[in-house]
Amino acid sequence: MIISGKELSAQLKAEMAEKVKGFPALYGRVPHLVVILVGEDPGSVSYVKGKAKASAEVGIRNTTIRKPDTISEQELLELIAQLNADDEVDGILVQLPLPKHIDEDKVIAAIDKAKDVDGFHPLNVAALWQKQPCTLPCTPKGIIKMLKAAGVTIEGKRAVVIGRSNIVGLPVSKLLLDENATVTITHSRTRNLAEVTRQAEILVVAIGRPKFVTADMVADGAVVIDVGVNRDPETGKLCGDVDFAAIEPKASVITPVPGGVGPMTICCLMENTIECFLRRRAK
Ligand code: GUN
Repeated sequence: MIISGKELSAQLKAEMAEKVKGFPALYGRVPHLVVILVGEDPGSVSYVKGKAKASAEVGIRNTTIRKPDTISEQELLELIAQLNADDEVDGILVQLPLPKHIDEDKVIAAIDKAKDVDGFHPLNVAALWQKQPCTLPCTPKGIIKMLKAAGVTIEGKRAVVIGRSNIVGLPVSKLLLDENATVTITHSRTRNLAEVTRQAEILVVAIGRPKFVTADMVADGAVVIDVGVNRDPETGKLCGDVDFAAIEPKASVITPVPGGVGPMTICCLMENTIECFLRRRAK
């Protein structure tokens, strides 16, 4: 079974659009998401366009602010301070990665935690690890939604995560743990990685290397979630971290690239923007 993130996200976005339609009457306006893009990285440009398109579909106001990669850290921090103070802004997203001369941690920490739609602010991260209410990071949230929509039982399962990034590997591990999976986090320096991944009933791959996971690394019947977005060095086409053609026949459930986790990430960003908007109104 192939889980279509594209279809699931279309359905969820339609439901959100229905809800947002009622917001002007209830609250006087719709949620407003501001996306900051620094530089011209083609991947980032494309992601930011996807976020603007999804916002339009859901009825969320989107402002994309583009800055040259020569912007200083101070200028970026000042822009964030201005958006934090703006009552008409509900969500602030700084597209990562940032140029090397800018301290990403400092920038993320500068965003008002109530407007942190990525769930990357240190206080949101702390709340996640303490099981307190918080904004959940979009990709991990989307992965759990996909597993549930596909009818996968998470409780009691052996889950293996490849990758330990702040954006995906660590938070998805915590969410799987909260769903009562037994979680193993692996990474580039894990010894005998294939031996570990073959134990996985649920395998989440976020390592950022094209077709890194080969058929011999996956057990028959495993659920395989591919977070990778890479260019296939041979064909130049978009591909995941998983050798899809070789693993699809073995897996019970698998996500494609493109059309899998990616659309769910954007869908969860829309959901987080609505949540931040509503939480700010409730105060
Ligand atoms: N770069 C890659 N993934 C993400 C994400 O989820 N949020 C932001 N802000 N930047 C990213």
